[in-house]
Amino acid sequence: MSKQSTRAKHSPSLAIIIMAAGKGTRLKSKHPKVLHEAGGKPLLAHVIATARKIVSPKDIYVIVGHEAAQVEETVSPTGVNFVLQTEQRGTGHAVMVARDAIKAYDQVIVLSGDAPMIRTQTLERLRDFHAEKNAAMTILTAVLSDPTGYGRVIRKSATSADVQAIVEHKSATAKQQKVREINSGIYAFSVKPLLQYLDKIRTDNAHAEFYLPDMASILGKAKQRVVAIDAGNYHEVLGANTRAELAEIDQNMRMAKCEELMAAGATIFYPQSCVIDSDVEIGTDTVIEPYVQLLGKTSIGADCRIRSYSVIRDSSVGDSVTILPGCVIDEATVRDGATLGPYSRLRPGSEICEGARVGNFVETKKTRLGKGSKANHLTYLGDAEIGEGVNIGAGTILCNYDGVHKHKTTIEDGVFVGSDSTLVAPVKIGKGAYIAAASCITDDVPADALALGRTRQTVKEGWAKEKRQSQKKEHAAKHA
Ligand code: UD1
Ligand code: CA
Repeated sequence: MSKQSTRAKHSPSLAIIIMAAGKGTRLKSKHPKVLHEAGGKPLLAHVIATARKIVSPKDIYVIVGHEAAQVEETVSPTGVNFVLQTEQRGTGHAVMVARDAIKAYDQVIVLSGDAPMIRTQTLERLRDFHAEKNAAMTILTAVLSDPTGYGRVIRKSATSADVQAIVEHKSATAKQQKVREINSGIYAFSVKPLLQYLDKIRTDNAHAEFYLPDMASILGKAKQRVVAIDAGNYHEVLGANTRAELAEIDQNMRMAKCEELMAAGATIFYPQSCVIDSDVEIGTDTVIEPYVQLLGKTSIGADCRIRSYSVIRDSSVGDSVTILPGCVIDEATVRDGATLGPYSRLRPGSEICEGARVGNFVETKKTRLGKGSKANHLTYLGDAEIGEGVNIGAGTILCNYDGVHKHKTTIEDGVFVGSDSTLVAPVKIGKGAYIAAASCITDDVPADALALGRTRQTVKEGWAKEKRQSQKKEHAAKHA
């Protein structure tokens, strides 16, 4: 009594275990299951991101085993702990290896690394329900129209929160297989009874594994309370065991992402056709047209229009930017009011400043195009620093590569580069200079100068007329 009341004063300490050691045999892949991607990032990264909203990373224990080094490397920047399960002997065994890690906590939530759709709010409901029912184990469940393959939750009665057992699909009787309430593989446990009875799990089942769901009947027999709570939305608990399930999860996740972005004020036409990764941000009143892909850590500002067939990855786009159809943008920065496309390609390290314009069939790489500058047609800009108010004529090429090294081009404010010019780097064009069309520029050009890098035009008066007349005569002589 006194012990309980002291404890009630503090909120119980909570750890989260994420089971991620399995191979994922059903995916038929050389990569570990939890590193397969949905919504543009690894399944496990989604689960960790959700867990981090409930506890700090130092209270998260990821159970790794199959390709452990690769899994750890991928998610270690999140600051979570790893527990190695050398041999994967089942979900019960995964918790057994975490025994020392969790023994000092009051409660533990167990998540599956292959079920990435689970929401923070649902985990909070699970945690609170577990506390409210004073349970030793609380099972998060869902009702599926086709529960094939999942463990079935056998409640003591249809209306009761109390659970008698979880039966795996393969061991279920015909009557039990008709039960559509499934075990999500997500649980809350009170650590004390969990660790007290954990070793009672046996391996007398179809896979000769330690099944964590067996804790339901084990705790029940020990007169500990075992309850279940329905997650409501079954999408949240789907696991990616097969490629088909992975595709379904990916689609659900992207649709949910579109809904979230639309609720926050972005317009997305035909969202089913767009591919928008989980970490993408979009400002209000921005319009995303059909068949756009926004990938990785991309952020788009407010009042933009992203037209069809553009693919933008790991890039930052400011406010009021127009991206016309068919642009490919990778690790680039586009500042407010700029216009791109159609068919522009920005490669890594491109920075298109305020109000600048990059037009069709223009490629940029490690290049800063200053405020209000324009490169409207058929141009390559690589390794360049270009100032403000510069006009780059159609067909301009910066020759940045000499076959061994890359060199830099500097073009200062207000320069006019005539069409079809080649600028051989390293080279610098001073402020306000003019480059005559079709020049090949190999030397620096001082400010306000005109540089011509081509032969002068020659005009031969009457030449064409004479040519035609002599051809006419020849023709007449032949046919006379
Ligand atoms: C499990 C449940 C099933 C439930 C389903 C929900 C068991 C025995 N069954 O089945 O009742 O309906 O989840 O999706 O638990 N893992 C380890 N170490 C191991 C084995 C597995 O870390 O030794 C990890 C896996 O990487 C995976 C998770 O545990 O992330 C679940 O394992 P999985 O084999 O996918 O279990 P299911 O067959 O889906
Ligand atoms: Ca699974």
